[in-house]
Parts: sequence; C-alpha cells; structure tokens
Amino acid sequence: MKGRLITLEGGEGAGKSTLLEGLCSYLRLHAIEPLLTREPGGTALGEGVRALVLDPALREMCAESELLLMFAARAQLVREKLRPALDAGQWVLCDRFTDASFAYQGGGRGQPPERIAELERWAADALQPDLTLLLDLPVGTGRQRAAGRGHAADRIEREADGFFERIRAAYLERAAQQPQRFCVLDARQTPDQVLAAAMRALQPLLEEGTT
Ligand code: TMP
Repeated sequence: MKGRLITLEGGEGAGKSTLLEGLCSYLRLHAIEPLLTREPGGTALGEGVRALVLDPALREMCAESELLLMFAARAQLVREKLRPALDAGQWVLCDRFTDASFAYQGGGRGQPPERIAELERWAADALQPDLTLLLDLPVGTGRQRAAGRGHAADRIEREADGFFERIRAAYLERAAQQPQRFCVLDARQTPDQVLAAAMRALQPLLEEGTT
C-alpha cells in the first residue's frame, strides 16, 4: 500500500489530540499502523526547537526567528522521519505541518506567504500532505477549552485574541484555496461527531490503497 501523509491543523483547544487518537484506532482497524508525529517536534532536534519556541521566557523572539525555527524542525522531520516512512509505504499522522506556518507565522505574525512558500520548497522538500483535517472553532471557545486544561500558557498561547483570529482566517483561506486537500471539520461538534466526519474524509484514501 502507498504511504499517506495526513495532517491535523487548527487553533487552540480544537481537539487535535483526541482526534489523533481516534484516527489512529480507526486506521488500526484497517490493519494500518500509522507513524504518529507532531510539529514542531518528532525528532530530537525538533523537540529541542519546540522547547525553544514555546518557552515563555523568550519573549523577545522575532517573527523571522520563529519562522526559521519552525522550518529547521520541519526540515529535520521531513528527512529523518516523514520521507523514509512514506517511501516505505507507511501512513503518517502528523499533528500540524506547513499549513501551521502559513497560519501562525503568515496570518498571525504577518510574514509574507511567498517567503513561507520558498521555505516550503527547499527546507520542507516541497512535501505536501495527501489530506489535511482542519479543526475549525471560534477563537473564544477554543481559548476557553485550552484554559480549562490547567497547564501554564506557553509563549504562543500568551498572544491576544486578535492573533488567533488572524490564524483562524488564514487557515480557512488556505482551505478554501485548496479544497481538494483540505477537509474543514466543525470542532464545536462532539469528539465522536468530529471523528465520524474525519473517517468519512479518509475513506477515499483507504479505498485507493486497496485498488
Ligand atoms: P501544539 O501542537 O501543541 O498546538 O503547539 C504547537 C504550537 O506551535 C502552536 O501554538 C502552534 C505553533 N506552531 C507555529 O506557530 N508554526 C508552525 O509551523 C507549527 C508547526 C506550530
């Protein structure tokens, strides 16, 4: 079977982790053992970058550094984990990928999209997901859910609502531009409803894999 890259995207408190678990179980029912990974992270280098970019003490981090750090982690993940897994025919579920840079560093921080696209070409080896599940949620609802989790806010979570509104708008714009790759899921639904919609979106890929 051909390897597939499925990415999960969304704002804070959208339920990515819960959906990831559900999808993993669903794929196992189809005898697919996916590689689960996340961004920034997934490699020793990437997890180091994650600690840096989320560290609330690094308030002075400029938008350019943030963008380059995200792509440093991504360059490593693509070469160390994603390409080898996909080439070996494995399915990969990745918690965030390049769309997050277009949304957070592009929409949120105002970095020009063509600069991000250029990084995508060489640093991320132009790797594109086969399917991107975007968990969409009003910013206020997501922030309330995230606050309810009880852990201290990281550097990015400390941003104001306007930042997250721009991120949401950038995600939705990207999804509208690439409807063949994106599936937008209404994250106000129950976790079971969100999982059911995600499973429907996966169906064509599962069917392709068996033909
Ligand atoms: P999360 O995966 O636990 O949500 O945390 C990752 C944080 O990093 C989240 O605030 C989104 C942010 N991020 C970016 O700003 N740009 C990126 O390219 C990626 C992958 C994540």
